[in-house]
Amino acid sequence: MDKKKILVTGGLGFIGSHTTVELIKAGYNVVIIDDLSNSQLFILDNIEKICGSKPTFYQLDMSDKEKLSEFFAKEKSIDAVIHFAASKAVGESMQKPLKYFRNNLYSLINLLKSMEVNKIKNIVFSSSATVYGDPDELPVIENTPFKPALSAYGSTKQMGEEILQKVAATKVIDCIALRYFNPVGADSSALLGELPIGPPNNLMPFVTQAAAGIREQLVVFGNDYNTPDGTCVRDYIHVTDLAKAHVRSCDRLINNEVQNNYEVFNIGTGNGISVLQIIQAFEKYNNIKLDYTIGKRRPGDAPAIYADVSLANKVLGWKTELGLKEMVTSAWEWQKKVIHNILNT
Ligand code: WQD
Repeated sequence: MDKKKILVTGGLGFIGSHTTVELIKAGYNVVIIDDLSNSQLFILDNIEKICGSKPTFYQLDMSDKEKLSEFFAKEKSIDAVIHFAASKAVGESMQKPLKYFRNNLYSLINLLKSMEVNKIKNIVFSSSATVYGDPDELPVIENTPFKPALSAYGSTKQMGEEILQKVAATKVIDCIALRYFNPVGADSSALLGELPIGPPNNLMPFVTQAAAGIREQLVVFGNDYNTPDGTCVRDYIHVTDLAKAHVRSCDRLINNEVQNNYEVFNIGTGNGISVLQIIQAFEKYNNIKLDYTIGKRRPGDAPAIYADVSLANKVLGWKTELGLKEMVTSAWEWQKKVIHNILNT
């Protein structure tokens, strides 16, 4: 039987590259679109090193309608699209909201139009726990109401889901939206991982760069929250587990199992972990001491958020396999490998 073909937009990014690897391992054929705005070409070679085959790669910006049409005219018989390509820096999105609406929504609309024209039915959408804002109840379930988004980035994920839901209601597409909690860690080969440009905003890359001596001191953003140790609680998930949720979603879409054309799943571990617990786990499992200090709260941070993942466990038939130890050790292995390759530090 011919291999099914998946288009992965943003396939050289952090989650996209790990998902590409898991798709290839599961027997899918992958085509990647990436504009290289927040990723690097050597990741494509590393995917080949891990999988033994190189996905077809197109460098293009998804908000370029003409180029996207040319792409679909060339690449026929796509069975499903996984749409990662988007801007994701929460802070930047407040300074440059139009960049985020253009990159995250205009490109989604272009993609959906192209899919309609080319009769491609299946799409997996990268959504985010950020759609819940600061929730009233924990853990959050998929129908926990959205709170007003705290950033333009969050708005684009809320609006993206809404656009997809409305288009799916016309039965033109089948969609699975995955709401990611906090993806961390790296492929066990240490050939893929997170490559932030400039000083990282997210906790784990800051921790690894601080441990590597690239950043001076890690600042814990507040220890006066109403949480067990006073620091914020999040649901950290290993990126390889997250990648596998995409493979399961493609299987489900291609097997026509999606109910009413649209489904949404929380993708986390279900465990709330504090900032201090991340630091302690990193120190313990990597046998390294971190220099950190307690600083002020970061504006816009929810005190605590973690997922109820029972729907994904049951319906997607997916569950996490990797724990905190694998998250902090794989992130560190990757950091050690790229230590001399950090750009724009
Ligand atoms: C985690 C915790 C910080 C840095 C964001 C987006 C979300 C998703 C993931 C996707 C918080 C604390 C952080 C530091 C710290 N985005 N922290 N010192 O804010 O939960 O989620 O990234 O692309 O949509 O909102 O993740 O990693 O920034 O922070 O103390 O130097 O670590 O306050 O409690 P966040 P994060």
